[in-house]
Amino acid sequence: MTVLTGAEVFVEGHLQKLDIAIEDGKICALGRDLEGDERLDCSGKLVLPGVIDVHVHARDLRQSHKEDWGSLARAALAGGVTTVFAMPNTEPPLDTIERVRDYRRRAQASQINATIYGAITSENYKDLDRLTPHVAAFKLYLGETTGQLIVRDKKLHREIFKSVTQTEKILTVHAQRGGDPADVTRHEADDICYVLDLAAAYETKLHIAHVTTQRGVEAILEAKKSKIDVSFETCPHYLYFTAKDRESRGAWLKMNPPLASEEDREFLWWALNEGLIDMIATDHAPHTIEEKSVGYERAPAGVPGVEFLLPLLFDAVNADKLSLRRFVEVCCGTPARRFGLPKGEIAVGRDADLVVIDPDRKKTITRKDVQSKCGWSPYEGLTLRGWPVMAFVRGIRRNPPCAALADGRWSSL
Ligand code: DOR
Ligand code: ZN
Repeated sequence: MTVLTGAEVFVEGHLQKLDIAIEDGKICALGRDLEGDERLDCSGKLVLPGVIDVHVHARDLRQSHKEDWGSLARAALAGGVTTVFAMPNTEPPLDTIERVRDYRRRAQASQINATIYGAITSENYKDLDRLTPHVAAFKLYLGETTGQLIVRDKKLHREIFKSVTQTEKILTVHAQRGGDPADVTRHEADDICYVLDLAAAYETKLHIAHVTTQRGVEAILEAKKSKIDVSFETCPHYLYFTAKDRESRGAWLKMNPPLASEEDREFLWWALNEGLIDMIATDHAPHTIEEKSVGYERAPAGVPGVEFLLPLLFDAVNADKLSLRRFVEVCCGTPARRFGLPKGEIAVGRDADLVVIDPDRKKTITRKDVQSKCGWSPYEGLTLRGWPVMAFVRGIRRNPPCAALADGRWSSL
């Protein structure tokens, strides 16, 4: 049995000075002066539940030059993330049982918890029974994405919602159309209403990916009142950047859906603090420096993000821009509950997925710290306070490759 001692631990909604005992991958006791064979002194640190990022593109397969499961896991741990949900727009896509199984095997060999989205296509939607037990949820692309998974036919959308409802899985939808960025932003709420109506008609459990605008959020909040079973995420880049930044930084801030206005960005922070946003997910979408260096029009859409999820938001906690309780709710508690994982809170019997944070460590993000294979970050140059220094994934200690250390050494307390 391993015991973490001396830390402030986030339990039942607030920080408490408690020891945590871990056995067989689970939290087996919380209390004072717990006994154990291995004791880790975590004085001066905070312990939070490991972050759950429900939206990453882990690539691998034929795109392993962008990312693979090894580099994704290192990046995730650096960002305090112990569980990821991997998107199926890989090359080839994860739309058959064989592909999902093979991808799961790769994911399981990594140092983090990983669960896989199954792609819904115009080919496979009629026969989801076999695929269902192997996936965390299903993903439907109604707008432009990396890869060829977009489904355009409106008649098919109805069939797909009907079919996914029968599996009882959540259907995560990329609802926003593609095209001119200002146009996409302007129509986000309409596109979201379109999928909300389908979910209402077929009683589908719906999750809406990467919501960027005030009107988009408001449409979802309205739908929640009428008892539609819907949740949604926004992403750190929509909290940190706007369309103006895209004008100056071009392809480095090109993503689908695109960055919205300053008013939308401010609204998202407000809504986050009000408890109106369900989850924050990174939509970690790595493309290499070479791929991004070909000008806005030709560059692929997507920015990496998993690596700085916790530091970005914990810095906001340190700056009193976000409460710790909200942070844990949107990054750990709600994702776990919504997707049915025995994680997301520090409580006896839960999986021992933990992140140990040095709340005062200050560090400027530089390119050479980046663990993702893509080799860059849109957050380079930002100085953040509060970095992960240790993590546990189902009880196994996994040190974050510490982006907080200038020389890239693995961290230790
Ligand atoms: O910007 C994006 N990048 N949006 C997506 O929908 C896909 C993602 C990717 O896979 O690169
Ligand atoms: Zn995505």
